[in-house]
Order: sequence, then structure tokens, then C-alpha cells
Amino acid sequence: METIRETAIDSERAMELENRYGAHNYHPLPVVLSKGKGVFVWDPEGNRYYDFLSAYSAVNQGHCHPKIIDALNEQAQKLTLTSRAFYNDILGQYQKYACEYFGFDKLLPMNSGAEAVETAIKLCRKWAYQKKNISTNDAIIIVCENNFHGRTTTIVSFSDDDTAKKEYGPYTPGFISIPYNDAKALETVLTNHKNIAGFLVEPIQGEAGIFVPDEGYLTACRKLCSDHNVLFIGDEIQTGIARTGKLLALDHENVRPDILILGKAVSGGVFPVSAVLADDDIMLCIQPGEHGSTYGGNPLACAVAMAALEVVNEEKLAENAERLGQLFRKEIRSRHLPLITLVRGKGLLNAIVIDDTPDSETAWNICLKLRDNGLLAKPTHGNIIRLAPPLVITEDQLMDCVEIIEKTLKEFAK
Ligand SMILES: Cc1ncc(COP(=O)(O)O)c(C=O)c1O
Repeated sequence: METIRETAIDSERAMELENRYGAHNYHPLPVVLSKGKGVFVWDPEGNRYYDFLSAYSAVNQGHCHPKIIDALNEQAQKLTLTSRAFYNDILGQYQKYACEYFGFDKLLPMNSGAEAVETAIKLCRKWAYQKKNISTNDAIIIVCENNFHGRTTTIVSFSDDDTAKKEYGPYTPGFISIPYNDAKALETVLTNHKNIAGFLVEPIQGEAGIFVPDEGYLTACRKLCSDHNVLFIGDEIQTGIARTGKLLALDHENVRPDILILGKAVSGGVFPVSAVLADDDIMLCIQPGEHGSTYGGNPLACAVAMAALEVVNEEKLAENAERLGQLFRKEIRSRHLPLITLVRGKGLLNAIVIDDTPDSETAWNICLKLRDNGLLAKPTHGNIIRLAPPLVITEDQLMDCVEIIEKTLKEFAK
């Protein structure tokens, strides 16, 4: 029987197939990956690279973590999907584990990050009508400029990234955008509008270029939301699960959101798993039939997510991210590397800002050279390069990567 999988596919053929048969909605760095283990990925020709993107912080536990893969394999032999038309024997166990892990009453399971953000928006609106008595269809959610919360039509409606947004209208109403890192701006809107239901915020703006707000900003926003009976909705899809040196980035300021949104590393990059967590008075505003997803809460996802969250604790990934993040920023700063104007970040979510205009090709070309030297990273917003390895990276490996970055920038500056 003829097989549909080509054996021994090389990089050139793999790229040719994607370009020929795939929609052109991404512009990948020209490198093809066929294997991953821990902090490393390999191309079909056998070249090894450090992964300094971690699938946008989904692979915090490292590629193909044995414990997570074992959980996947074991569950895959038993039961993979029931839909929510029936109970399954693992969803409740996962929900209990995750609720205790993050400190909430209830968890609503979804698949992608954007779906979880949509869920949080719907939940916030339900709460506004049922608990805050905002009149029907008048609820407003405050968002921040330069946000990134995903790609659905509602989410791009409140994006100000033209590439993500243009020609997708008509846009969903009900959002007010304010500057990020500006608690005063939040206060002004809260004072001047009576129909505010929620404030949706990334504790660090990831896609905007790892923009870390001033210390105290999130605390001030939390207080303002409490004072005005507005839900604080924390999007920790990229920053959560130990990435920034704490389990959640909001933990740096001991801020507890009313609605917590998780995705990406909840499954260690093994399966699409996202979640919305909240306490009963909020979560129970959604009743049977009012929201759902065929795959949300499937047994395979639950088994994988439980294992992935256990790994975060067992391997002390938050502590490792905190320690190695400090070391990384210190090393990059002290070496005074050419072309770098700034290194910023928290834990192992960092970025270097390249000394060129946002529309220049410099950062992209540096990433090509980094690839040639064995390290994979991707520019975000033109002249900013995000550097976010799996959190299982060791100190020796990190120092090896600092050497690669130094060598590459020196070669590039010649
Ligand atoms: C903060 C944040 N929210 C939401 C999303 C969307 O997640 P997904 O791509 O899984 O839909 C992302 C993805 O990068 C993100 O960084």
C-alpha cells in the first residue's frame, strides 16, 4: 500500500510543501524542525539548535518531556474524547488539581489561547448583566494599547496592530483602549464611565516586545478594579506557568485576578489546552448550554495538563527561570554587545532591542545568523528579538547561548 507520508523529507522539500499547499498567514524563519528534546530542536539534516522561542512560551517544560509524553501515551490508549455531552473520569480530577494549584473555585476548559480569552470576555459580560446590573448590551471591557490576546474577530476588534486587524471588520463593539502602564488612565475611564465590567490586561506585554510595566502598576490597577467593582482579567497565556520566575507573572506583585486566563505551557507544548479560572460568584454566571467546545476538557488534554503542571513544581521551573533570567540579563548587559540598545524582561521572558528602526530588516537578519550559529529566535515588532528558552535550560547551556549571541552580534557588526 502506498504511504501518504514521504520518507526522508529534507528541509527544502518541507518548506516547498508548506509554501505550495499552506495558507500564507505566517512568515517563518527558514528552518525546518523534525525533532525536539529538552532545550534542543533538530532539522531533518541533523543540525541541532537551541530553541529560544519555545513556541511562544508553550514549551516551558522542554520539548517532548518524558513525563508529559508518558501521560499522553497512557491516556491515548484508554480514552481521548467524549465531548461534554457525558462526564469523563479525568476532567474533574484535572479541574480539582488545577483549581488548588492556582487557587480558584472553578475551571472552564478550552483549547486555544484565543478561545480562552473569548471565554473570559463572555464570562465577564454575563457577570456584568447578572451581578452588576449593567443594562443589556451596554457592558464595556477596558483593554490596553498594544495588547495581544489572539486572533478571533472580537479580539482583533480591540487590537491596534493594523496587520492583525485590517480588513476584518465590522468590528465588535464594547471595548475601550487605554495606554498600558498608566494606572491614571484606568482611573479616568473608571471614573467617567458607569458601564465598565472588566479590565483585560497582560502582566507583561509579550507580543508587543516583552514590555514590562513599572513596579506597582498591576497593584494599582487591581485596587482600582476592586474599588469600582470591575473584574480584573489577567491574560497569563504567555507569561504564566513559571515563565517569568513565578508561577504567574501577577505573583510578582501578589495580585490575584478575578478571572485568570491560561494557555500554552499548561500542556507543555504537547496538546492545545487552555483554561479560564474564577471563583463561584463569577463562574456560575454561565449556565448549561451557554458556552462550550467539543474538545474542551477532553481526557487527553486533562492527562497532559496534569502531568505538565506537576513537572513545573517537581523541577522547580519558576526558581530556575528567576535565577537564570537574572544571570542572562546581567551577562548580556555586561558584555556591551554591538547593536543591542536594551535588554529587558523578567525570568526567562526577555527581549533585546536592536539599534535600528522597527521597519528595518536588521533583527530578521540577525535571527538568520543566530540560526546559522545554532540558536533559534524570532523578531517581534521589527527591531525587537524575543529570547525565551525552555525553562529546563541549565546554567551551562544558558552560558553557551550567551556566547552564541555575542559571537553572532560581533560577526554581524563587522
Ligand atoms: C497574551 C496572549 N494572549 C492570547 C494569545 C493567543 O493564544 P493562541 O495563539 O493559543 O490563540 C497569545 C498568543 O501568543 C498571547 O501571547
